[in-house]
Amino acid sequence: MSGKSNVVLIKDGKRLDGRKFDELRDIKMEVGVLPRAQGSSYLEWGKNKVMAGVYGPRKLHPMFLQNPTKALVRCVYNMAPFSVEDRKRPGPDRRSVEISKICSEALDSVVLSERFPNAVIDIFVEILQADAGTRCAGLTAASMALADAGIPMKDLIASCAAGKVEGEIVLDLMKEEDNYGECDLPIAIIPRKKEFALLQMDGKLSRQEYSKALNLAMDGCLKVYEIQKQTLIDSAKVEAN
Ligand code: CDP
Repeated sequence: MSGKSNVVLIKDGKRLDGRKFDELRDIKMEVGVLPRAQGSSYLEWGKNKVMAGVYGPRKLHPMFLQNPTKALVRCVYNMAPFSVEDRKRPGPDRRSVEISKICSEALDSVVLSERFPNAVIDIFVEILQADAGTRCAGLTAASMALADAGIPMKDLIASCAAGKVEGEIVLDLMKEEDNYGECDLPIAIIPRKKEFALLQMDGKLSRQEYSKALNLAMDGCLKVYEIQKQTLIDSAKVEAN
C-alpha cells in the first residue's frame, strides 16, 4: 500500500483488469478435493489459487493445551515459494503468523467448539498462487473445508476486501491495486448473525470513505456467501446421485 506510483490504475472509469468499481473478480470453488483430509476445498479468486484442508477434530497433544470446555480451532496459513513473483522464502514469517492468527480467531467464532472438549481442529490454508486478497480467499476456503468436513458451525465465514485506489472506493483489490493503492480494508462476516469476524485496515480513509468501503466490502462478502452456499448445495447433489 504505497499510494504513490506512476502506474495508471484507473482509466476511463475502469480498473486495470476492466472491472467496475463494485465488481468482484471471478470466483470458482470446489469442495471435497482432498480425499485424505476430513474436509477440503479449492478456490480460484481472480489469479489467487488456494487449497484448504481440515484435520480433526482429534485429541489435542500436548495435553496441557487441552481445554475441557472446548476444542482448539487452529489455522495455519502458508504461502508457497512459487506463489508470488519474487520467490517467497519457505516457512513461516511475521506476515503468515499474523494471518494464521486472525484466521484462527475468525474460524473459532463460527465453529461450535464446545461440542469437542479437549480436541483440536486443524485447518491448513495453502496459497498456491497469490494476487492480493489471499487472507480473504484463505478464510473463505477454510470455512468451506470445515463445512465439507461436517464440523458443526453457526454459519460459514464469508470474506472480501474493499479499498481506495486513485481516490476511488473499489471492491476486491488485485495485486497492482494492493501494491500502489491508498488503502486496503479486508473484512470477514458471519452472514446470518450479521457479525464481523475480521476487520483490518492498511492505509488511510476519511470517515465517509471508511463507511463507503465497509458497505462495499459487506456487499462483496454477501456475494461470496451466495457462491459458497451454491457450491455446497451442488456438491451435496453430486454426492446424493
Ligand atoms: O494477500 P493479502 O492481500 O491478504 O495480504 P497482503 O499482505 O496485503 O499481500 C498482498 C499481496 O502481496 C499478496 O496477495 C501477494 O500477491 C503479494 N505478496 C508478495 O508478492 N510477496 C510476499 N512475500 C507477500 C505478499
